[in-house]
Amino acid sequence: MAANRTAYLASAALLLPLAALTAAPPDGTSQPMVWGRVAAADGTALAGVAVSARPDGATVTRTVYTDADGEFFFPPFQPPFAPGAYSMWAQGVGFERAHTQMTLEDGRAMRADFELDTLEDFSNQLAGSDWMNALPADTHEARRIKEIFRVNCTECHPPGLVLQNRFDLRGWRAIVEAMERVSYHGWTGQGPRATIAYHREELAAYLARVRGPESPPLRFAPRPRPSGEAARVVITEYDIPTSVGKRELAAMDGSHWADGVPSGLHGTGGIHDVQIDNDGHAWLTDSVANEHRTLVRLNPATGAVRAFKLTAPDGRAQTSHGIGRDANGILWFDSGGWLGRIDPATEAFSFYRPPFGAPTTTSGQVDVAPNGTVWMSARRGALSFDPKTETFTFWHDKTIGDGQTYGAAADALGNGWWTQFNMDMVVHADVRTNRTYEIPMDPPDRMEVFLTPEDREFYHNIGGNRFSGTFARPGAQAPRRLSTDRKGGAVWVANWWGGNLARIDAATRAVSYHPVPGDANPYNTVVDRHQMVWTNLMSDDAVARLDPKTGAWTIFRLPSVGTELRHIAVDDRRDEVWVPYREASRAARLQFRTAEDLDAMKQAAQ
Ligand code: HEC
Repeated sequence: MAANRTAYLASAALLLPLAALTAAPPDGTSQPMVWGRVAAADGTALAGVAVSARPDGATVTRTVYTDADGEFFFPPFQPPFAPGAYSMWAQGVGFERAHTQMTLEDGRAMRADFELDTLEDFSNQLAGSDWMNALPADTHEARRIKEIFRVNCTECHPPGLVLQNRFDLRGWRAIVEAMERVSYHGWTGQGPRATIAYHREELAAYLARVRGPESPPLRFAPRPRPSGEAARVVITEYDIPTSVGKRELAAMDGSHWADGVPSGLHGTGGIHDVQIDNDGHAWLTDSVANEHRTLVRLNPATGAVRAFKLTAPDGRAQTSHGIGRDANGILWFDSGGWLGRIDPATEAFSFYRPPFGAPTTTSGQVDVAPNGTVWMSARRGALSFDPKTETFTFWHDKTIGDGQTYGAAADALGNGWWTQFNMDMVVHADVRTNRTYEIPMDPPDRMEVFLTPEDREFYHNIGGNRFSGTFARPGAQAPRRLSTDRKGGAVWVANWWGGNLARIDAATRAVSYHPVPGDANPYNTVVDRHQMVWTNLMSDDAVARLDPKTGAWTIFRLPSVGTELRHIAVDDRRDEVWVPYREASRAARLQFRTAEDLDAMKQAAQ
């Protein structure tokens, strides 16, 4: 076991003059809540290790990463973090977790040091892209089956959930057969999924080969630990009770990496989208039918959670999915085919029902243009809503496919953009001319080359990417959600299977593709007020930021595994980023520190 050393240093006397000279946080101090050093058993400093602190009995956890010297600095106490008893732990891939209990006091620079022992089998700690990268890809055939595995088996859950356990051929065949008939939310017996059924035997054989009882260990090359700016982030994770028990937390919340990816349908699968209101409260949607909540409001200063229930005809709670905010901080969300509006200041709700046979979808995205026009996904197209006249307009797809619209976004001019997920298509409606345009997602390096002639015939017969309603095709781009850069006149599309962000010039509709680093799949995008483009890497427990001017990516890792990030929001009033954890029933808030902020703390501490 790792030996934990905890030391206490009093250095308040040094503190004030230094703090006064530096860029101090608003409370006037740079004194960290707690700081320390993380080293390997041989004493070498470990950079990029996640150090977490959780007040005893609380539902919030704060995490910082160690710098190049192996040192970490928690921000000064601020609600909901107060002096008192804490659990603290340090984690890095390839090391055993080190844990300690300590009482943090105000007015002193409290110190906690950790020593990490190496861990032989660290596969449970890995991110989705680490697993994908470890799968053999040295031959044409290996690349083909890997892509078939990716598109059939890593959409509903991350690769780690599938690969963390080993089964023999019989076991894998039984699992694959079960997965032909599973839904996203559990065992409905629907289906079968044509593509899994078609590839059943080779998928089972493949899984038994790479993850059978006697398979040689996969050779992992875990992603580098965070450094530089990515190691200066402060991440606060808020636990949200599951929808089954009003007070019950997720049985596994991903915070102990060695436990692996949380698995099971313990009422934990509902939390979906998030938006931040003007007061800084987070509003989250719940996409799984349950008894008591449609929306959840989280107070980040206390961690308190309040559920709001809209009663469906069957007495249960109406589900919700997409949520957007307008320029005044009013929130708009979809619920049971209706468009909902909340004024967070008064908690007043109103609902608008689309008059056509084109309700908002129950798996949509809601976005609001600067002029107030609300855009949302709808079956076979998208809907726009004018709040002044309270009227809807239905914009239909140009090419009729399976009818599923995934994401929808509004641009600076109030125009709409939406995705046909199963057809690799983005559709754009120009409200002034009433014209719609199609923008195919078609990067030069597609993977269709890996399909055999038989595969091609099969995919052709089920409709290929034209009308079949399947995104489970190797080579598919699967444009999922999207957002607009309102200052830059661009639309950013998360091409899920394509592993890239497509930038569409809103005026010319010209497309360029920006591959996401690693073997990761982007789910959604959001553009902040500095025109940085953010995306949530669902299977990777990470968010990535692209600076479109330089092309530089920064990857911010979350301190939990199996988070399943399906949405990302920026809080432009505070320059913060939020992501909901679907499977782990939590929400994470990312706050950013400059090198100067950290230097000030470092000096205050020592
Ligand atoms: C339509 C959604 C969906 C698809 C596609 C899917 N699964 Fe699943 N899978 C589920 C659900 C739901 C569960 C049970 C809940 C959970 O554990 O998250 C599950 C659970 C599993 C588990 C058990 C995990 C554990 O340790 O408890 C394995 C293994 C698995 N899936 C493998 C696969 C494989 C292999 C494929 C591809 C052939 C696949 N899944 C495709 C939805 C899906």
